[in-house]
This record gives sequence, structure tokens and C-alpha cells, in this order.
Amino acid sequence: MRKGDLNISYRIYANLAELGKSDADLMLAAEKSLRNAYAVYSGFKVGAALLLENGETILGNNQENIAFPSSLCAERVALYYCKANYPDVKVLKIAITAKASSSKLIVPVTPCGACRQVMSEYERIQDTSIEVILKGEEGEVFVFDRVADLLPLAFQTTAL
Ligand code: THU
Repeated sequence: MRKGDLNISYRIYANLAELGKSDADLMLAAEKSLRNAYAVYSGFKVGAALLLENGETILGNNQENIAFPSSLCAERVALYYCKANYPDVKVLKIAITAKASSSKLIVPVTPCGACRQVMSEYERIQDTSIEVILKGEEGEVFVFDRVADLLPLAFQTTAL
């Protein structure tokens, strides 16, 4: 038997001011985007903003449906739009934030497993890391250097 170890580190910033202007601007874009979320069932609005290597910003927000499984998270709305329209442009960063109708989110929102899987594959095929910036409604900001840190041992195979 051998023992495996996973070591994941990330940066914690006290607020957007400490994060720095360009990343703060991306997060502000995500915050703005969540206002367009269609989250009438959960009351939980999520916004995502992608920074592309061509300098463009792509926005997404969660879109829910009365047939609940038809809903889609903000991250995948943004990423699928991005890949549908800019298939060859690398994604440098993704900023994600949320606002709940029930209470104030004072800890960063962290992406669901399905979104991590999708982010992880795009990171792998573009062969450069995608930085992940996470924030709640207020409070600290978490920054992960790469999606792989959020989904260690992600499913991938050459057998398909
Ligand atoms: N949601 C996202 O948009 N992103 C995530 O990473 C987690 C959850 C959405 C889905 C649903 O519309 C609402 O938040 C509550 O789960």
C-alpha cells in the first residue's frame, strides 16, 4: 500500500480592494450579471464572468426552469456560450459570485461539481490554467490558480 496526498492551496483576500483592480473588475462584472439571473424557484442568483485571452469578458447567470433539471448554473451558461462563440480563445479567469434572497452570503460561493467538471475539461483542452475567483455577497475572496485544484482526480480517460 502507498499513501497518496493531495495538497491544495488558495489565496484568501479580505475584500475586493485587496484583490486588485483587474480581478475586482471581473468580479464586479459577475455581480452585475447575477442581476439577470432567472432564479424564481431557488431565489439564489449566481453570476459568472469569464476573462478571455483576447480581453473580452463573457457573462453568465443561472437560468432556472419549472422542470427543475432543465435549469443551468451560471458558470456553464457562461462557459458554453463562450465555447459556442469563441471556440479557439483561451479562458484566463472565471469570477463567480451569488446573492441569496433568504440571507446574506458572507462566505464565497463555490461552484457545484458539474460546473467543476465542465471547467476542468476546458482547462485541460486549452492546456493553460483558468484562475477561479470566488466571492459571496460580501466578505473574503478566494482565488484558486487553476480549476484542477477544485477538482483533483477529475474524470478523464483516453478510452472514450
Ligand atoms: N447554481 C449556480 O448557478 N452555480 C453553482 O455553482 C451552484 C448553483 C445555481 C443553480 C440554481 O439555479 C441555484 O444556484 C440554486 O442551486
